[in-house]
Amino acid sequence: MQVPFLDVLATYRELRDEIDAACARVLGSGRYILGEEVDGFETAFAAYCGSRHCLGVANGLDALQLILRARGIGSGDEVIVPAHTFIATWLAVSLVGARPVPVEPDERTMNVDPGRVEAALTPRTRALIAVHLYGYPADIDALGGIARRRGLYLIEDAAQAHGAVCHGRRTGSLGDAAGFSFYPGKNLGAFGDGGAITTNDDDLAARVRRLRNYGSQVKYHHEDLGTNSRLDPLQAAMLAVKLRRLDAWNAHRRRIAALYLDRLGDAPGLSLPPAEPGIDPSWHLFVVRHDRRDELARRLADAGIETLIHYPVAAHLSGAYQDAGRPAGSLPLAERLAASVLSLPIGPHLDEAAAEHVAASVRDACVRA
Ligand SMILES: Cc1ncc(COP(=O)(O)O)c(C=O)c1O
Repeated sequence: MQVPFLDVLATYRELRDEIDAACARVLGSGRYILGEEVDGFETAFAAYCGSRHCLGVANGLDALQLILRARGIGSGDEVIVPAHTFIATWLAVSLVGARPVPVEPDERTMNVDPGRVEAALTPRTRALIAVHLYGYPADIDALGGIARRRGLYLIEDAAQAHGAVCHGRRTGSLGDAAGFSFYPGKNLGAFGDGGAITTNDDDLAARVRRLRNYGSQVKYHHEDLGTNSRLDPLQAAMLAVKLRRLDAWNAHRRRIAALYLDRLGDAPGLSLPPAEPGIDPSWHLFVVRHDRRDELARRLADAGIETLIHYPVAAHLSGAYQDAGRPAGSLPLAERLAASVLSLPIGPHLDEAAAEHVAASVRDACVRA
């Protein structure tokens, strides 16, 4: 049995007629920038997340950057970021001219360890980016408490967490503002790039609305140094179709995750994501850890199972940050995760038989590794 890591075509096959109809509607409308398709998706996604505003933008990296810019965060400022995350979280901070200050993960959840945040704060700290990595909600109660006490803006990086639930509330409504990505492989993925910001902050929403559109609210009147980062109406129309299926797809991911957790609980040498009461991850990725990760991946490949590594190089050891003064060994927990994480196949494309095959093969590989 061959098990691909991901099949982005699966959701298109399922919704082909509705998606084709949505595309045809946009193409025939003559409205190819912003307009009612983008408005419609924004309204639906804001309601889904439980937030007052949603602003569609070009991608997830822009979503984070625009939140920071709209808050006036830039040169001379510091922003707390997880040491263990996709590098876009750091890049958003660097690209607005501020300094990303990494905080080591809690190895159990692989999200930022709130107990280590206070020590990283300085008078220059302006914001804290909580990443719901792999779709597992960050410890928002603890991080929110720190943000409130220290007057920091709490930004969610929810790029991997569409529909994740934390004590009854969906991600995108847990902080001051959130950035989402609709990169095709995400739980809610577009057919190209896309992103969004959700927030209850009216002022932030108004600023982002201008910033994404050349700093303009009224055509040819430019109040801010804006950029061009608008969600494409074609993508918005297709995302609106897919949004209606998101909960069902996430429920399917949860069933696969439950199967993996059940079958792999006692696999030797394997660490699994935690199951915590009140936390309902979106399971964008199902990430296990093993000291002999590369050997495990090889054995699974031999069994026809495709795995990936998210992420093989810690952000501070990437070429992009080689001059940032954080040599190898400076963030040992993040480095250890980079050396031991392995993502198993999960998603709407994966049926139960395939998931059983993956679980049995992982057990077998652990016994032999
Ligand atoms: C955690 C995280 N943050 C930010 C991004 C950036 O999103 P995009 O690829 O849409 O720019 C991604 C995804 O790619 C991500 O996984």
